[in-house]
Amino acid sequence: MRTEPKGASAPVFEKDLLNFPVAKEESKVKGRILVVDDEPIVLKSCERVLAPEGFEVETSESGPDALRKLDNGKSFDVIVTDIKMPEMDGIEFMAEVRKKDPDVGIVLITGYPSQESIKEALTLRIVDYLPKPFSPALLKEAVNKGVELRRKAAPTGPGVLDYNEAIAAKLDEIIARYKEKPGSLIPVLQESQELVGYLPPVVQRHIARGLNLPVSEVHGVVSFYSFFTMKPKGKHNIRVCLGTACYVKRSEEILAKLKDRLNIDIGEVTPDKKYSLESVRCLGACGLAPVVVVDKDTHGSLNPVTALDILKEYE
Ligand code: FES
Repeated sequence: MRTEPKGASAPVFEKDLLNFPVAKEESKVKGRILVVDDEPIVLKSCERVLAPEGFEVETSESGPDALRKLDNGKSFDVIVTDIKMPEMDGIEFMAEVRKKDPDVGIVLITGYPSQESIKEALTLRIVDYLPKPFSPALLKEAVNKGVELRRKAAPTGPGVLDYNEAIAAKLDEIIARYKEKPGSLIPVLQESQELVGYLPPVVQRHIARGLNLPVSEVHGVVSFYSFFTMKPKGKHNIRVCLGTACYVKRSEEILAKLKDRLNIDIGEVTPDKKYSLESVRCLGACGLAPVVVVDKDTHGSLNPVTALDILKEYE
């Protein structure tokens, strides 16, 4: 049974959005979204934010009503759900949703964030967790991410976070180790990235909460430093240099061959999570051009015809 306080509703957004126009027609639906909340104003506000973005939005005032939609054959790319609902709370609801559709993106919203609810939610592989009040931009970002992951990810693939309670607890351990030290953010981010593999928004928010920092500050640092990534990586990360010295020695052809062989684009991960692909501007080894770095191994003086042989080392 949930222990979140009852009483007055938390504000939904940082601004009142009820005057935002709802798009009447969209030539192309970006994704199908179900918003579940017992407060009609939340449903209306989310619809008014998401519909103009090209999403087809349905709403439900309870978990059971939403589950009936799924039972009736409706399919959604992302479900945005509140935790505190009277008939069936959001955690129970998400557990039922996962049985019916293991791959749907779930974005959790709550006016009463707690470590307990976050940990429970993480075991259900949520896309993001938004404490109220949140901005329309955050809602759009989370839903877009959910739709993108739903479209790209294999059922257990690199789309939905491989997150669980144990990982959340380890993040807390990392934060606790650095919390009282000056300049704690960078080492916390480094260790968190080593742990999770990348720094998606939900992890950034977890760190911001733990270090008592604004999410914008954490996001700013993650965006600024190139060694932090917000995208998942494969077991082996391949970086192809497109800097001038490598480019003139046909590194673009090597990149094209890798894309073709792995059947992924730059910034993507293979469905088996084995490889991810990046392009970079100069790896500092111009004398060895053209250069490809796999994990920490530098492969230089490659021939575009035989370059794919480097993959044999990682089979
Ligand atoms: S341009 Fe490729 S390593 Fe410098």
